[in-house]
Amino acid sequence: MTGEPLDAVDPRLSESEARYQAVIENASDMIQSIRPDGTFEFVNRAWHRTLGFDEAELPGLNVWDIIHPESREHCEIAFSKALRGESVDYVRATFQSKDGRRIPVEGSAAARMLDGVVIATHGFFRDISERERAEELARRNMELEQERLARYLEKMAALGKLSAGLAHELNNPASAAQRAVNGLTAALERRDHAGQQLTAQSLSAEHWAFLESLVRAKVEQSGDSGPAFSPLEASEHEGRVEDWLDDKGIGEGWALAPDLVAVGVCDDDLGRIAETMPAESLEPAVRWVAASVSIHELTRVIGRSSHRISELVSAVKSYSYMDRAVEQVVDIHDGIENTLVILAHQLKSMTVVREYDRDIPPVRAFGSGLNQTWTNLIDNAAEATGGSGTITIRTRREGDHAVVSIIDDGVGIPESELSRVFEPFFTTKSQGMGTGLGLDTVWRIVTEEHSGTVEVSSQPGRTEFTVSLPLAGNTS
Ligand SMILES: Nc1ncnc2c1ncn2[C@@H]1O[C@H](COP(=O)(O)OP(=O)(O)O)[C@@H](O)[C@H]1O
Ligand SMILES: [Mg+2]
Repeated sequence: MTGEPLDAVDPRLSESEARYQAVIENASDMIQSIRPDGTFEFVNRAWHRTLGFDEAELPGLNVWDIIHPESREHCEIAFSKALRGESVDYVRATFQSKDGRRIPVEGSAAARMLDGVVIATHGFFRDISERERAEELARRNMELEQERLARYLEKMAALGKLSAGLAHELNNPASAAQRAVNGLTAALERRDHAGQQLTAQSLSAEHWAFLESLVRAKVEQSGDSGPAFSPLEASEHEGRVEDWLDDKGIGEGWALAPDLVAVGVCDDDLGRIAETMPAESLEPAVRWVAASVSIHELTRVIGRSSHRISELVSAVKSYSYMDRAVEQVVDIHDGIENTLVILAHQLKSMTVVREYDRDIPPVRAFGSGLNQTWTNLIDNAAEATGGSGTITIRTRREGDHAVVSIIDDGVGIPESELSRVFEPFFTTKSQGMGTGLGLDTVWRIVTEEHSGTVEVSSQPGRTEFTVSLPLAGNTS
């Protein structure tokens, strides 16, 4: 009773039969009637359409021909339940079309009885492939969304770590500069005070010139060659200078001595001051010299500190600047060095060995990805050594590629984990310490965004990550 147009319904059928037949034929769900032996009594048009068997094939078919093997056991239970005369209100199963396609369905089944005996089971099934596809898509979207969120959080965590380290790094020079500024104010007052005394004593121009040249010579010397004395020598000199000052009745020698010795003024120089200056001017002259040299010294500290601050700021700027530029041609060493500056705090107990081939031509960098790559690899290396090992960064050219190796002498990666380290969320670190996204990020940035490769080899005490990037001249 299938396949024929509606108006071809057998005119000999009664009106009511014809009505039921039309309803069944035109139902959009699959309807099938199965005899207890599993053969088909009748099926509707939707059934043929969905499963692809034509009417002539129907007599040769058995219900198990249209049930996918994965669903067989489940359907046997439902079928035997229906055969016992119980209705199956909801069943989810997988059918199989003539050409072998899986067709997920849901529906119900009930028995048709005659004189208390089941003569057929009627099943009503709806093809839910579309819905399953939509559900699968929604699930996948949710997974992607969660992954994106996790990546975002990892980025934020990495940023948090970087900025905490940077804050520490900036704090040192900033507070050194602050301390120096305070010291400078006090030293200026001391020098003014001594200067006024010397002026009041009508110090001659020659004597002024002598003091000034002494200061200048000492400051120049100490500027050229760093500290004038080793710490041990310095403390010996300070002791002698302090004694000398006490001897001459100059008070608070303990405070003056370190400033004087710091720029290389020792008891010999003081002896020359004593020989050259009028006796009553000795104390203010020594104080004037001490204050002057410390002014120079403090100015130098401020200079060095602000230089360090600028250095850090410019490293941060070029580290993150790349976020804005879509594509740049860069010397890989710049990015590595900026990363090292930014990670300096984390690396303060580590030894960083640079084995650079500075002649490597530039590579193409997209965004700040490469810096993120160096950050993740160096971060892992530092963690693997417990923060106090050696990291070797080696660069070389191999054909049309720039190759960067980051090697550490840490714990290493067990053979069994080696193939898993690039998997997202694979981590051996405790919760809160690792997200397992570092190397996944490296992998994506290097291979997908930069058409490069990344490899790892490891044994206890030596782990090497090797990143290979096409040189700029060779990428299309
Ligand atoms: N240099 C290394 N030495 C030893 N193990 C490493 C090294 N780099 C990565 N690993 C291992 O790979 C895992 C995944 O690294 P990663 O993706 O950066 O995530 P995370 O650092 O958050 O754990 C780490 O947990 C660690 O077990
Ligand atoms: Mg990591």
